[in-house]
Amino acid sequence: MLKNFAILVTLGFCYALAEGGPPAIPHRIHIQARAHPKSSFLRRRALSPIDVPLSDFFLGTDLQWFGNITVGTPPQILSVIFDTGSPFLEITSDLCTRCPQKKFNTSASSTFVDGNTTGIFSFATGGGVDPVIDNDYSLTVHTAADTIGLVNGFSAPDIEILLIINQTTKFDIDPYDGIQGLGASAQGLFAALISQSLPGNMYLTPKAVGNAELILGGIDSTKFTGEPIFGDLPPAETELPPSVWLLNSPGISVNGHTTGFLNTSRQIIFDSGTSNVVFPTNTTEAIYALISPDIKPFPAEPGAYGMACDRIAYLPATLDFTFTSQNGTAFNLTIPTVELNVGPFASNTSHCQTLINALEGVEGVLGGSLLKHYYTIYDIGAKRIGFAPAKLLSAQVL
Ligand SMILES: *[C@@H]1O[C@H](CO)[C@@H](O)[C@H](O)[C@H]1NC(C)=O
Ligand SMILES: *[C@@H]1O[C@H](CO)[C@@H](O)[C@H](O)[C@H]1NC(C)=O
Ligand SMILES: *[C@@H]1O[C@H](CO)[C@@H](O)[C@H](O)[C@H]1NC(C)=O
Ligand SMILES: *[C@@H]1O[C@H](CO)[C@@H](O)[C@H](O)[C@H]1NC(C)=O
Ligand SMILES: *[C@@H]1O[C@H](CO)[C@@H](O)[C@H](O)[C@H]1NC(C)=O
Ligand SMILES: *[C@@H]1O[C@H](CO)[C@@H](O)[C@H](O)[C@H]1NC(C)=O
Ligand SMILES: *[C@@H]1O[C@H](CO)[C@@H](O)[C@H](O)[C@H]1NC(C)=O
Ligand SMILES: *[C@@H]1O[C@H](CO)[C@@H](O)[C@H](O)[C@H]1NC(C)=O
Ligand SMILES: *[C@@H]1O[C@H](CO)[C@@H](O)[C@H](O)[C@H]1NC(C)=O
Repeated sequence: MLKNFAILVTLGFCYALAEGGPPAIPHRIHIQARAHPKSSFLRRRALSPIDVPLSDFFLGTDLQWFGNITVGTPPQILSVIFDTGSPFLEITSDLCTRCPQKKFNTSASSTFVDGNTTGIFSFATGGGVDPVIDNDYSLTVHTAADTIGLVNGFSAPDIEILLIINQTTKFDIDPYDGIQGLGASAQGLFAALISQSLPGNMYLTPKAVGNAELILGGIDSTKFTGEPIFGDLPPAETELPPSVWLLNSPGISVNGHTTGFLNTSRQIIFDSGTSNVVFPTNTTEAIYALISPDIKPFPAEPGAYGMACDRIAYLPATLDFTFTSQNGTAFNLTIPTVELNVGPFASNTSHCQTLINALEGVEGVLGGSLLKHYYTIYDIGAKRIGFAPAKLLSAQVL
């Protein structure tokens, strides 16, 4: 998932690699204690909820979020994407001579343990403006373990890490130093947090609600309207990694319309490490067909679609994804028209990319384009995901 969408696609590979150990990622995470919000959704916990302030990235589009964690003893601060689409921690290390990111200095940590296994971690990355789907996103990683923590907060010893020891140049522009998986199987740091009765829940909210934040172990009810609606994760499927947060969706509508193909069941993954939206080519093109025949594949960037920038602003493109709540009633999650235009392609700035990227091998992935509009509750203990409309910053100001 690094770049844009990649993470979920890489999971199969991660699991193959996992013989050597779990992954680790360093990122800078500011943490501060916060008062317990009064909420019936809170689980009993031994520690106070922890806030992790997040910066946003993705070429300024508020579609990816990252924050700080600490690695090693004494703690070194590194920044990571908090990725609900993967389970592992990967961080840039001093073993990577050509990585421009901040690096974890393994020899400066008294608690560092070498895992002695090296492998390649490939990302199928798609979409977003500029990062494209190709074969050129791969990390060479080395297994290790060390103490991982949250700044000013929790830390846990002997957490498995994938040290990045080389990377393809496509990763060089990333402003973060790694990826902290927040997958539903709760490995590594998050397993340690749960064992301390801390998380149970985690929340990522978009900049539009007053800067993104990850909250571990609590819910900030000032950031959303109404009561969250929860959907249950389906029983683990053999063909999918058990770490993904996914819900069955009985259908998709575009501007209030659907088709026989779109009105069928598919499993949709909620991935904070994916910037936009990913569907297989057939679903992607069925959705675009209901928006405009002018949206076409952009050959220079396989999997990406786009149209002339000067006409995109006039297209309505409200996408409703239907899900089933815990009591069996249907609810929609909606991506508004404003997300259709991802921005101009670098290779033709008169041509703008549209939000869905085609990629085979997944039934559907909703990333930043959707998640920024909802306060999203990843409830590990109850195996469910909750959504409530995020309060807009402007509404708070008013
Ligand atoms: C992460 O830590 C760095 C200092 O290492 C700080 O400059 C940055 O603002 C922090 N990021 C966040 C999101 O708190
Ligand atoms: C890494 O840590 C070692 C031991 O503290 C130190 O000698 C070395 O200079 C550090 N490397 C960098 C790049 O800071
Ligand atoms: C890695 O190799 C070193 C040196 O052989 C050994 O001391 C250490 O126990 C190994 N680490 C693991 C996790 O097996
Ligand atoms: C590191 O990755 C770069 C870019 O893919 C490659 O050119 C280089 O050969 C790699 N270095 C090593 C030591 O594998
Ligand atoms: C089912 O849940 C939804 C969403 O939480 C709620 O709006 C609705 O009133 C519930 N319906 C019943 C019959 O409990
Ligand atoms: C979901 O959206 C579709 C299309 O706008 C609409 O027909 C349907 O009634 C909505 N479902 C719910 C539960 O709101
Ligand atoms: C979608 O399919 C369901 C059956 O799964 C059906 O009840 C519903 O009428 C269909 N909706 C549309 C708009 O075709
Ligand atoms: C760039 O995009 C514009 C708008 O879609 C299009 O008219 C033009 O032909 C494109 N230029 C090239 C070189 O493809
Ligand atoms: C859509 O494409 C996927 C492959 O990405 C395939 O598995 C699926 O059967 C296709 N659906 C239809 C209705 O053709």
